[in-house]
Amino acid sequence: MKKEISRKFCVAPMMGYTTPYARKLYRILSKNSFLFSEMIATKSLIYSKNRENIIDNDFNNPVALQVGGSEIDELTKASKIAIDYNYDEINLNVGCPSKAVQKGSFGACLMKNKVLVRNCIEALQSDKIEATLKCRLGLGKELKYEFFEEFIDEMSKTGIKFIYVHARNAILSGISPQGNRTIPPLSYDFVKKIKNKYPNITFILNGGIDNLDKAENLLKEFDGVMIGRLIKNNPFILKEVDKKIFKEKNKLIDETVINNYFAYIKPKLGFESIFRLLSPLLNIFFSVPNSKIYKSKINEYMRDQNINLIEDLLIKFIRDRILV
Ligand SMILES: Cc1cc2nc3c(=O)[nH]c(=O)nc-3n(C[C@H](O)[C@H](O)[C@H](O)COP(=O)(O)O)c2cc1C
Repeated sequence: MKKEISRKFCVAPMMGYTTPYARKLYRILSKNSFLFSEMIATKSLIYSKNRENIIDNDFNNPVALQVGGSEIDELTKASKIAIDYNYDEINLNVGCPSKAVQKGSFGACLMKNKVLVRNCIEALQSDKIEATLKCRLGLGKELKYEFFEEFIDEMSKTGIKFIYVHARNAILSGISPQGNRTIPPLSYDFVKKIKNKYPNITFILNGGIDNLDKAENLLKEFDGVMIGRLIKNNPFILKEVDKKIFKEKNKLIDETVINNYFAYIKPKLGFESIFRLLSPLLNIFFSVPNSKIYKSKINEYMRDQNINLIEDLLIKFIRDRILV
């Protein structure tokens, strides 16, 4: 049976970042945020010997498994795996513009073939798990509402309940995936308009939401927001989400967060790379001036696999600075 779950505040899927470890950290920081895995190609999901490490879900629910693929039988298998691993949702990536993804016939290029996307969603659907979609507004340089509307019209035939929209086009050649997150202009209005046409579908707005005040304001008009880079750069923002968005009294102490996270990753050292275990925390240094000394110490301790010293150093860093 599917549970009623709030998707008011979602942390976007981010390859190389929203790993099982990052999701553990995010869950320590926020009880209410809806989390996503990074995109996993259906073939890796089905055949990888490393599957446990890639998609482990250590009760970090509510959480979605995002997949990339367009082979119907693989998608059906992927959906079963998501159920076995206790995910609440399986989400199809129809937004990634990278060349590699286009070669594998998944991601944003699928927006060219709305009937295929509809078949893909149907392959993911079952009464045990929510099957959802993350898409763009369209393809190429020109924004056309009619294209977006016709795409969603086709999706609506599946009975889909949740659609995440990165509210800009994808440009499939000539610009990088990073450029595709900044260059095509945002149009939140398209999402507002489609939401009025389909009140039974929850549309979650994504793209360019770079602070929590903005998120809070947008929630007056939209059913949910999804945020990526803001959280990647400083996951400690999530501590504020439960207070600001979900109006909870949250007395989390930064040091306790670090201690809890390290208690989780320490037993994994030796089975997983120290970089992957620590990467959800490392970005917090990048935006802070004079953090060079911390960075070089952390690199040194990582080389020596000295996780206790890294924990102490992170706690010192946090004591010395205000993170949020
Ligand atoms: C490093 C990185 C990796 C990403 N990987 C994925 C991915 O695996 N699947 C996906 O649907 N979107 C991916 N995205 C796009 C984000 O989910 C999101 O749509 C985009 O960053 C816009 O949201 P933001 O402005 O809040 O960052 C990625 C973004 C970044 C920065």
